[in-house]
Amino acid sequence: MPYVVITGASSGIGYASALAFAGRNKDLILTARRKQKLEELKSTIHEINPNIDVVVFTADLSDSDEVRHLYARTKAYELETWINNAGFGEYASVAEQDLAKVENMLKLNDLAPTILSSLFVRDYAAKEGTQLINVSSDGGYTMVGNFVTYCATKFFVSAFTEGLAQELLAEGSPMRAKVLAPAVTETEFAHRAMNVETFDYKASFGQIHTPERVAQFLLDLYDSDKAVGLVNGETNQFELRDPLFPYITKG
Ligand SMILES: NC(=O)c1ccc[n+]([C@@H]2O[C@H](COP(=O)([O-])OP(=O)(O)OC[C@H]3O[C@@H](n4cnc5c(N)ncnc54)[C@H](OP(=O)(O)O)[C@@H]3O)[C@@H](O)[C@H]2O)c1
Repeated sequence: MPYVVITGASSGIGYASALAFAGRNKDLILTARRKQKLEELKSTIHEINPNIDVVVFTADLSDSDEVRHLYARTKAYELETWINNAGFGEYASVAEQDLAKVENMLKLNDLAPTILSSLFVRDYAAKEGTQLINVSSDGGYTMVGNFVTYCATKFFVSAFTEGLAQELLAEGSPMRAKVLAPAVTETEFAHRAMNVETFDYKASFGQIHTPERVAQFLLDLYDSDKAVGLVNGETNQFELRDPLFPYITKG
């Protein structure tokens, strides 16, 4: 069975997505920095289904050498779907944001998915049944105050992935590229974005989703022929959409 690769699988949406794809009997390659969390997830998957092969690779994807090394390690496996999910935010005004953190955020949220998407497309675009799913955000379609740079990183993910989806279609490639754009989801995201130990999602936001629900949205997107799976920030409803950005086919 070809493998599904998920980055950022040690917590939140990536963790829940690994369990969701395990529910589809998919062999998995899981990556993040925290090896122990990934090994715990591997054990949990094997308690549910011991027949699923789970490969764990640790990597710091804010380091482009480690990004390339991660891809090189996956070359030993046949791949079906690559999900670039790892990412984080910085909650601050542009004037006050932590520039060292912002530099890492740009590398993790944009540079890593660009490298990994490009290498995956290079190797697999001609293969039937392959998919690339990049995790953006509703903030990858709408700017949010005090999250401007984070949203800009996600606009990049949305625009890059939509453009790639159009390019693959225009070339007649069987591979599909898709954007998952969740809205507020109860994960470790707020802790890192705000540099806090605890965060009460329900008290801070009227409507939130669990990571398990977002993992189901991811499966819905995976099963569909649409390029965008977007949680509408106003209604909190999940919508499968065609690309939203204007696109001009090369002349
Ligand atoms: N939660 C939300 O409200 C929300 C809304 C819209 C979009 N999103 C997006 O959803 C994606 C998943 O976020 P989440 O909410 O599930 O947050 P999360 O619980 O903080 O998970 C983030 C994942 O990324 C990994 N990661 C972080 N830094 C990394 C690095 N330098 N190298 C490799 N892996 C790294 C983390 O693993 P390690 O720490 O073990 O490396 C973790 O597995 C992100 O792209 C985020 O922007 C989240």
